[in-house]
Amino acid sequence: MAGKETFQAVVITGASSGIGEASAIYLDNLGYQVFAGVRRDVDGEQLKSKTSARLTPFLLDVTDEASIQAAANTISATLNDVGLAGLVNNAGIAVAGPLEFLPIDELRKQLEVNVIGQIAVTQAFLPLLRKAQGRVINISSDNGKVAVPFLGPYSASKFALEALTDALRVELQPWGIEVVIIEPGTVTTPIWNKSITLADDILNKLPPQALELYSLAVDATRNTAKKLSQNGFPASEVGKAVAKALSAKKPKTRYVVGWDARMSIWLSKILSDRLLDKLIIQYLGLPKNS
Ligand SMILES: NC(=O)c1ccc[n+]([C@@H]2O[C@H](COP(=O)([O-])OP(=O)(O)OC[C@H]3O[C@@H](n4cnc5c(N)ncnc54)[C@H](OP(=O)(O)O)[C@@H]3O)[C@@H](O)[C@H]2O)c1
Repeated sequence: MAGKETFQAVVITGASSGIGEASAIYLDNLGYQVFAGVRRDVDGEQLKSKTSARLTPFLLDVTDEASIQAAANTISATLNDVGLAGLVNNAGIAVAGPLEFLPIDELRKQLEVNVIGQIAVTQAFLPLLRKAQGRVINISSDNGKVAVPFLGPYSASKFALEALTDALRVELQPWGIEVVIIEPGTVTTPIWNKSITLADDILNKLPPQALELYSLAVDATRNTAKKLSQNGFPASEVGKAVAKALSAKKPKTRYVVGWDARMSIWLSKILSDRLLDKLIIQYLGLPKNS
């Protein structure tokens, strides 16, 4: 009798849409056993309709300790004694707005999801990753290297994720557990519209003075974001980078995805802060100090 086939198991957070969904589909096609984190059953069912029967959706809110622990326990029981080949920390939100007036709870929410949540999930899954000398793959952004005005909270969260990734990579090296960061440029996903809607909600709650001071800059940033989001590259490109990071014999510590990300990270290395500021002001069409 033929033995039971085994597949390398991978957990992906935030798999309901965009990069998480595309990565789940990409890895499923490659033959991985994908555990796909979603916040609603219906999103899991929809994803399952696009993949093989191997893919297993599970409920996960990265800001909810009980949800994280329950997910880790269930997946551990399903895998029995086999460990995890990878954890893809992808779930994320983008909070935007002028920092002078940003409600502090919005900044907390941004950091809770994109920073604290990533480490909480990593802690919960590390016992399973140890068993298979698996890899942690964190989805950052070129905004983890170049901060964008009015996307200050999001940029801060990705800078923090870069720092945590660099620290964790060295902390886990004695056990051969690789920690990789992926830095995509503009990818066409729902995050852009969600972020614009969230920013509009925040702006509606700000005092009139905030709008007097910032509406020109905010409008310019919103228009650029809308244009960029329509011309981004497909989320499957990030899925490909995730697959490389998982399967390379010796993975790179970071994978930059997209010409725009390569360009902005390079410019940030060669230009002075003042010159980079000027370039960003011009690119976004922001008001200048006359
Ligand atoms: N799109 C880009 O241009 C771009 C570029 C660089 C990096 N990234 C990064 O890529 C990652 C995925 O973003 P995306 O562009 O694919 O956006 P997306 O389509 O909006 O996907 C975000 C995912 O995160 C999930 N999520 C949000 N809050 C969560 C929470 N508290 N717990 C668990 N899941 C949560 C969402 O689930 P729900 O559907 O339940 O909200 C969704 O599945 C993010 O980390 C983002 O920063 C995106």
